[in-house]
Amino acid sequence: MIVSHLSLKNWKNFRTVDVPLRSRVFLAGPNASGKSNFLDVFRFLRDIVKRGGGLQQAVAERGGLSQIRCLAARNEPAVEIEAGLAEASGQPPLWRYAVGIQQSRGEASSRLVYERIWNHDGQILDRPDDSDAKDPMRLTQTHLEQISANETFRELARFFDSVSYLHLVPQLVRNPRAFAGPGIPGDPFGQSFLERVASTPPKTRRSRLSKIEKALVSAVPQLKELTDTKDEAGAPHLEAIYEHWRPRGAKQREDQFSDGTLRLIALLWSLLESQSLLLLEEPELSLNAAIIRILPAIIHRLQGKHKRQVLISTHSAELLSDQGIGGEEIFILTPTEEGTKVEVASTIQEVRDLLEIGFTPAEAVIPRTTPQLGAQRWLFDA
Ligand SMILES: Nc1ncnc2c1ncn2[C@@H]1O[C@H](COP(=O)(O)OP(=O)(O)O)[C@@H](O)[C@H]1O
Ligand SMILES: [Mg+2]
Repeated sequence: MIVSHLSLKNWKNFRTVDVPLRSRVFLAGPNASGKSNFLDVFRFLRDIVKRGGGLQQAVAERGGLSQIRCLAARNEPAVEIEAGLAEASGQPPLWRYAVGIQQSRGEASSRLVYERIWNHDGQILDRPDDSDAKDPMRLTQTHLEQISANETFRELARFFDSVSYLHLVPQLVRNPRAFAGPGIPGDPFGQSFLERVASTPPKTRRSRLSKIEKALVSAVPQLKELTDTKDEAGAPHLEAIYEHWRPRGAKQREDQFSDGTLRLIALLWSLLESQSLLLLEEPELSLNAAIIRILPAIIHRLQGKHKRQVLISTHSAELLSDQGIGGEEIFILTPTEEGTKVEVASTIQEVRDLLEIGFTPAEAVIPRTTPQLGAQRWLFDA
């Protein structure tokens, strides 16, 4: 299943959003335009349903509803999220989840203004209901988070629970033990990547590493025979033959891989690791331009037969230079005084025209995400 539709009201720096989503989406926008905030909607839904989570916890982890609610919300008190899920993009929705959350002055916790669920047979949840009217405290929890209440829509809860978020930090992947403190749930920064590889059953592990090696052939052709190993102390490592100037190559461990190579391997592993929605923060970091350009194609290939959904934040022109990226796969985030606007690139006539005559997505889209730069280019050309 994928998220095929998203509507937002007053979520962080977005006043209103209403977009269809494909199985691969690139969020293009300048710094602080809200790319991470957009991804955070799905992490928020996950935080509501995860074990030990819940609505109150998810709100508290973000500093309270006053931090979540859009500063440009004016007199609209509620933060609203609606997500539609479908088998694949372009298919009719199987599920629709809608929630409105509010916290008035003087109230100790945030509460639901509404919670509604539809499946293909129609609406199956409509809160507040009679029980909520009798006991308003109930509105501090969603039914989504309650096992005793979510039996008929557990598939929906599971979907949100399985969302993963990745913002890989090569130093953490490389030196997991150098950083004390408890691991972070979901391992967003890749700290337990090597452990995860080591604890995967051998057959799956070998199959994934071999897929990664194949995917890397064009990006890092010198890297061969990617395998896992353990050192004398039992700590897990990755190993590969690195064919350089030595004719038969030399074995290297991941601590000798470049930041980019290591980050890329961890990213590709995560893509193969599950079938659920993956949120990817700026995959271009520490990679060289030549590799960034082929990354969308690699991601597309590793999304698998059923096209696992991947939402990718980026501000890399190289990443968007792949002609295989369609205008309907790119969201352009434009900050305005009324909050950030989110547009599907293919709905903008001018972008469509440019793509039609052979411009790359980057050439068609990037000038719109960096207005000043666009203007400078005009000056330069004149
Ligand atoms: N509740 C809110 N209302 C308005 N703006 C917000 C709110 N919360 C965060 N922001 C703004 O969102 C911006 C950060 O967005 P972020 O998603 O980190 O951008 P990006 O990932 O594109 O660099 C900051 O400028 C911050 O002030
Ligand atoms: Mg960001």
